[in-house]
Amino acid sequence: MERTITVTVNGVTHRHEVEPRLLLVHYLREVLGLTGTHIGCDTTNCGACTILFNGRTAKSCNLLAVQANGATILTVEGLAQDGRLHPIQEAFWEEHGLQCGFCTPGMMLSALQILDRTPTPTDEEIRHGLDGNLCRCTGYQHIVNSVRSAGRRLKDAGVGAIPEAAGSPPVSAGGKGGAMRWP
Ligand code: FES
Ligand code: FES
Repeated sequence: MERTITVTVNGVTHRHEVEPRLLLVHYLREVLGLTGTHIGCDTTNCGACTILFNGRTAKSCNLLAVQANGATILTVEGLAQDGRLHPIQEAFWEEHGLQCGFCTPGMMLSALQILDRTPTPTDEEIRHGLDGNLCRCTGYQHIVNSVRSAGRRLKDAGVGAIPEAAGSPPVSAGGKGGAMRWP
């Protein structure tokens, strides 16, 4: 029997009837048409499906759509605002943080959580934070450079890493955040 879910994605609230077995990643891609969230494995290892779920990263292949009822989600499509790339997107572009781009949406969303928790991370902290995201192309160094560069850009702009539209984690989930959030 289908269930009704209400979920806010990239600042837009949606209401749909869904099968209880429908995976969240399939809901995002096939029901909402947000195909920037990729599927790269069937073992929850690759991180290509990473989103922000109530302000914290989650692998959307590892959640059911019904579990997102009432949640606030950010996907890669929600990063740019008013025609302006998010600093993490600018950094990946300028530091050559991608080749084929398949892993990139998940990498960028994981990077935002790293930078939210540690605005000026060391390379080791960046690599640890990206542990759940695999890339077959880059050798990772340019991705690390991109995250470091994004941290500098956010600091210069005086904003936190995670956009408002990503929602907020429970108070007990921790995370420092910036004085302001990206619009
Ligand atoms: S699709 Fe690979 S971890 Fe989700
Ligand atoms: S850029 Fe191709 S998988 Fe990462």
